[in-house]
Formats: sequence, C-alpha cells, structure tokens
Amino acid sequence: MSVSRSESRVGVWLIGARGSVATTVVAGCAAVTAGLQPPTGMVTETPPFADSGLPALSSLVFGGHDTLDCPLPKRAEALAAGGVLPPGLTSAVTAELAAADRDIRPGGPLTGDTRDADELIAAFAADIQDFVRRHGLSRAVVVNVASTEAAPTGDALPPSSLYAAAALRAGCPYVNFTPSTGLHHPALASQARSSGLPYAGRDGKTGQTLLRSVLGPMFAQRALTVRAWSGTNLLGGGDGAALADPAAAAAKNAGKERVLADTLGTTPQGETHIDDVPALGDWKTAWDHIAFDGFLGTRMILQTTWQGCDSALAAPLVLDLARLTARAHESGLSGPLDALAFYFKDPVGDAPSGLAEQYEALIGFAHSLRGAEPAGPGEGAGLPQSAGEGRELRPGEQTNGTEGLR
Ligand SMILES: NC(=O)c1ccc[n+]([C@@H]2O[C@H](COP(=O)([O-])OP(=O)(O)OC[C@H]3O[C@@H](n4cnc5c(N)ncnc54)[C@H](O)[C@@H]3O)[C@@H](O)[C@H]2O)c1
Repeated sequence: MSVSRSESRVGVWLIGARGSVATTVVAGCAAVTAGLQPPTGMVTETPPFADSGLPALSSLVFGGHDTLDCPLPKRAEALAAGGVLPPGLTSAVTAELAAADRDIRPGGPLTGDTRDADELIAAFAADIQDFVRRHGLSRAVVVNVASTEAAPTGDALPPSSLYAAAALRAGCPYVNFTPSTGLHHPALASQARSSGLPYAGRDGKTGQTLLRSVLGPMFAQRALTVRAWSGTNLLGGGDGAALADPAAAAAKNAGKERVLADTLGTTPQGETHIDDVPALGDWKTAWDHIAFDGFLGTRMILQTTWQGCDSALAAPLVLDLARLTARAHESGLSGPLDALAFYFKDPVGDAPSGLAEQYEALIGFAHSLRGAEPAGPGEGAGLPQSAGEGRELRPGEQTNGTEGLR
C-alpha cells in the first residue's frame, strides 16, 4: 500500500455507477483495502508513487449516477457468475457495495424527462455537492464510466457533457474514461479553462490500443514500413451492446486508430471493427493483423491476439486515475493533465503517443506531486472554486522530476 499524506476522505463519483467497470471498481477497492486481493494492475501501488501523497484506497468513498436501478450487490453477483469477480468476493465486500449503492442517484435524461439541459446540470451538480457535504469529503473526482455515446451531431449537449458541466459546477475535477464527448464539447471549452479544475481523458487504454501504443513505436524505431494495420474486436456485456451502434463504435475506433497515426507518423491502410457477441460477456478478444515491409521490400506479417476481461483491466486504471486526479486537485493544478496520457486512447493536451514515453511522463508527474503542498483553506472542498483559481501546468513541467508544484 502506498503511504498517504492525506488523512481526509476523497469521493469518487462514477457516472454509470451500476455498470461493469464501476461495480468492479467498488468491489476491487474494498477487496484490496481489506487485503483480500493484491493490487495487481494498479500502477499507483508501485514504488514510484509511494511518496506522491495520493489518497489511500481506504479513504475513497464511492457514489454516482446511473439510469438503471439494479442494486450494486446484485450487479456484483452477476459479474461473479460471469467470472469477472472471483468467487466469494461479493459476499466479502457486500457492505461496501451496499454503502456505495446508497450513494447512487438517478441519472438522466430518463425516458420522458422534461428537464432542460440547465435543469439536468443543476440537479446532477446538487447530487454531487450533497455527496461531498454528507460525507465531509475533502474533494470528489467525477469519473465517466457510462455507456459510450455516439458523437453529437447538433449543438445540444449530450448526456456525458451534461455530467461534465455538472462536475465543473460542483467544483470537481473530471476524468472521462469513455470515448463520449464529456468536456470535449465546444460549449464547455471556456468553462473548462476558467474553472481552475484539473481534468483528464478520453477513453481508457486497456487492451488493443495499449498493445498498439507499444508496437507502433517499435515499427517506427526499427525503420520498418507498416503498410496496413487491421483490427477486429469481439465483445459482449453492456459495452458490447452499446458499441453495436455504429455511431458509438465510430467514437471508440477513432481513438484506436489515432494511436497508429501518431506513433507511425502515417496512417496505414486497414480498419478497426467491433462486433457485439453477447455470449462472451465482459471477455474481449482483439485481433490485430499488421502487414509491414522489411529490408529490400521483403513483405512480412505480425498478428496479435489479446484475450482480456475488460472490467478487470479497466477498474485498476479508474482507481489510479481517481487518486492521481484528486492529488492534482489538492495540489492546485488545473487544466488538462497531459501526464495521464499513459491511461488513454485519445489523451487531452499535448502528450506523446508511445507507451514508454507516456510512462516516463507519468513517473515525472508522480515525482512532481511529492513536493506539492495541499491547496489552501476553502479550496478543493468539493465546492465551486473561483474561476481560474488552479494553476495550469507549464509544458514539460510534469516530467521535471522532484521540485514542488507550489
Ligand atoms: N472495460 C474496458 O476495458 C474499457 C476501456 C475503455 C473504455 N471503457 C468504457 O467504459 C464505459 C463503461 O463500460 P462498462 O463495461 O462498465 O459498460 P456497462 O454497459 O456495463 O455500464 C455502463 C453503465 O452506464 C449507465 N448509463 C447509461 N447511460 C447513462 C446516463 N445517461 N447516465 C448515467 N448512467 C448511464 C448504464 O445504465 C450502465 O449501468 C464504456 O463507455 C466503455 O466504452 C471500458
């Protein structure tokens, strides 16, 4: 376990709080905190983060919004039946699941909802602020793990952007673990800038894109010419069903393809597809087929097969992101957290695309947090900060090592 400098409790407000990823986050945090499971897959539990002042896992308090009303312990039982959670875990952490369940509020817009965008934002923000006050939290990080939406076509804010606006209104840092629009909506750009809050996204990098962010730089560095890179994913569960909508899948695939263009410096031929196979549940198979040229134009092929349990891959990253973003907020940082690009397919800000460079930037960020002083009294109380209160990171600052941020 990492050493915590902060004894205060920190909220993690999950949008999509009854989904597979969210349920695995709550159950997994309780299991690791109780010593029932090791923190496998949690980068923030490795030595470089030990002195970064991250909130302890035991200090995290969970709540959120969802449009479903299935109780969290029941959701966890279904995940255990599908082999996502280990046998016996749900009963061991049922109290923690029930506690988080009591802090889940109805999301929106619901069918027949007559509230306009501002009313929805106000209602969501009030729910988050109420959560912070009732639990006496020092701050809360809002994390979007709701179903992937199609990219919006008109000016109206999609649900993910209503929640992102609510996070800003509630004075909370924001993480978008999905490819949905969230804070990327043009109508929120100036609010995001002037909010004084840190934010990170988009779309967690857990499988196929993780592999691409390692293999892309390898081909480029070895001066091998990639002619075509094609990929197919088979996936079930709620995410598979949501991505059966071609518009939602397009949002996801854009991030998967961006990493190739960024790391190779060219856009290779080939497409990425996602097929919904309900029988597979949360277990994803991703194939990549890479056609490349070697010396004297010799043609070669690399094929990869990734078989992963999506929620087990995503949940430790969500916990890492919540802790890092909470600490960034505590340190008075604002704006896009480029150094968290390691976690995302389509990172905010100006970040390298190769995993090795992203890891270096993350470790630099962890070092820089060591010297950071907590924000002053009244700041970061989960209540709205005055505009522009946080401090924007300067380019390269996150990789500078050990000097303090204030
Ligand atoms: N698991 C991974 O490896 C991974 C990686 C990257 C991104 N993601 C993204 O994480 C998200 C969650 O994945 P999942 O497997 O948990 O999906 P899921 O379908 O199990 O859960 C999504 C939840 O969002 C809720 N929801 C839908 N619309 C909502 C709204 N308007 N307000 C509040 N809640 C709403 C649903 O009711 C559901 O409970 C998806 O967008 C997925 O693309 C997952």
